[in-house]
Amino acid sequence: MTEQIVILGFAGSLRRDSYNKALLHAASELVPKDAKLEIFGLEGIPPFNQDLEDHMPEKVKNFKAKIKAADALLIATPEHNYSVPEFSRMRLIGLLDLMMITLLRENLSL
Ligand SMILES: Cc1cc2nc3c(=O)[nH]c(=O)nc-3n(C[C@H](O)[C@H](O)[C@H](O)COP(=O)(O)O)c2cc1C
Repeated sequence: MTEQIVILGFAGSLRRDSYNKALLHAASELVPKDAKLEIFGLEGIPPFNQDLEDHMPEKVKNFKAKIKAADALLIATPEHNYSVPEFSRMRLIGLLDLMMITLLRENLSL
């Protein structure tokens, strides 16, 4: 049996009735049988702050673990003023910072 492909999806909108969240839920019903789309809500994730590196909030730890375990990411984000909204941009850049620190620590045994 082949292993299931894990896709982690999150939306760049916190709005309760967000169309982007709805799109992710619709996509989760359309993925092939050998894949699953897990949706992660970003509510409560603070902006990246290096001071929190050694005592990250549980939600951030959970998010990191899920990203590491995923084979792919699916990001649904609205457009604001012809660009990516600040919330999505901050989350994506924060995510890159977070993952870079994790990779550096693992590879340099810091
Ligand atoms: C401040 C602001 C700027 C927006 N700018 C754009 C835009 O440039 N282009 C566009 O197509 N929609 C724009 N929209 C509409 C949003 O993309 C739309 O409301 C979207 O559904 C919001 O995503 P959500 O439903 O996931 O919360 C803007 C909405 C807001 C509040």
